[in-house]
Amino acid sequence: MTDKNHAPLTEPERQYFFMNAMRGIVLEKERRLGRKLTMHVTTFGCQMNAKDSEKLSGILQYIGYEETDSEDADFVLFNTCTVRENANMRLYGRLGYLGSCKKKKPDMQIALCGCMMQEAHVLEKLKKSYRFVDIVFGTHNIYQLAELMYEREQSNKPVVCVLHKAGPIVEDLPALQKYSFKDGINIMYGCNNFCSYCIVPYVRGRERSREPKDIISEATRLAKNGVKEVMLLGQNVNSYGKTLAQPVSFAELLRMVSQVPGIKRIRFMTPHPKDLSEELIAEIAANKKVCRHLHLPLQSGSSRILEKMNRHYTKEQYLQLVAQIREKIPDAAITTDIIVGFPGESEEDFLETLSVVEQAGFLSAYTFLYSKRTGTVAASLPEQVSQEVANERFHRLLKTVGDVAAKQAEKNLGNVEEVLVEEENPENGLLTGRLSNSMLVHFPGDRSLIGELVPVRLEECKGFYYFGKIFF
Ligand code: SAH
Ligand code: SF4
Ligand code: F3S
Repeated sequence: MTDKNHAPLTEPERQYFFMNAMRGIVLEKERRLGRKLTMHVTTFGCQMNAKDSEKLSGILQYIGYEETDSEDADFVLFNTCTVRENANMRLYGRLGYLGSCKKKKPDMQIALCGCMMQEAHVLEKLKKSYRFVDIVFGTHNIYQLAELMYEREQSNKPVVCVLHKAGPIVEDLPALQKYSFKDGINIMYGCNNFCSYCIVPYVRGRERSREPKDIISEATRLAKNGVKEVMLLGQNVNSYGKTLAQPVSFAELLRMVSQVPGIKRIRFMTPHPKDLSEELIAEIAANKKVCRHLHLPLQSGSSRILEKMNRHYTKEQYLQLVAQIREKIPDAAITTDIIVGFPGESEEDFLETLSVVEQAGFLSAYTFLYSKRTGTVAASLPEQVSQEVANERFHRLLKTVGDVAAKQAEKNLGNVEEVLVEEENPENGLLTGRLSNSMLVHFPGDRSLIGELVPVRLEECKGFYYFGKIFF
């Protein structure tokens, strides 16, 4: 076996050392079993987790594992989310099933990582009730997967390594892209906003921006490999670059990425309404490569609740921002996130949310029932809204969002729009493409068009998607 003491201390060299060591171990196991080893990564949560999973899958592939669709693989990894309680419950459910698989297949290895692992009560529960888990790590050391796997091989105990402070941003590790024609790029990590309901700052740490040169070189590499659309990822992209040695604004970064040859479309996620700058609106308006879509989380339409949420904007400021966007970028769609049942939310507060949904004219909205997260400020607020009331409001909100969204979507009927073809529906053979405004359109066409940008006429609106025809 390779001597761990010879591992370089610099990154990413150290991880390549362990990836190569693991390659040898995997080859040995394959010889013993007389077959290839398989891996499966299940991702919960947001695009940032999806991007982390591409890196984790890249490491596993480099080590020699073959990707499989089944969770019944030799190496199973869950990249977890804890933004709402139901995300946690889903993990425990899946783990129960995997525990029974592992009883039949003792060579199987199970690893857990991501946001949930950053919480002490989760680690305790795993230690008590899920002792069959082999490796546990958090959000700050996903780059160490190979090193932790190597450690697991050398010991007969589970390896648990969760860091509570972010380390270096490690560049240049392998990644296994989900789509060949589009990908996410992290531009920053963590969050400093501490919205009172949200666990993310606690599990992802403080805000850190990646150097523009690293972002550009990733975009260049992706474009060379055929990627046409990139999504720039961060919890609050408007704060991008503020803490760099040489500060760069997010608008400047957008311009730089749009100059990368081969990049045809740029998306980003998520801007915070409190500091969406005029500079950014002007850049989007002028830069045709930036998709005509702003996801601008509202959370609540009541200024009273927004203050308790620590969002730093009022209902009026939000609506003013929407008006400014509509004026400067008239073809941009605005979508949002809304939480129902935040502690102390009254019927009047909720009606204000409905009214903002109508006034803002969202093209779609992700709606969430408030979920109490241990350790957040909101968890200790009195007046938690009852499940019954929250559910009832939630259904009313869904109805309003649906009506408003359908009205907005219908406005585009008859337009010919460029879509990026993403996949073929195996059931009806139709292709699915994504519009610049992020909506989907289904249309007849040959699967060779997957990954291409094609003009499509929007002919029928189904509320959340369209049917259309290629328009040459
Ligand atoms: N950084 C992004 C959102 C990250 S989390 C932003 O600030 O907008 C994605 C969404 O999950 C949030 O916009 C919010 O609507 C929802 N969310 C976060 N914490 C929640 C909680 N405790 N209960 C319900 N929804 C929550
Ligand atoms: Fe959570 Fe607010 Fe940060 Fe978004 S901005 S991740 S909602 S704390
Ligand atoms: Fe969930 Fe973590 Fe994203 S908590 S929403 S996966 S940052």
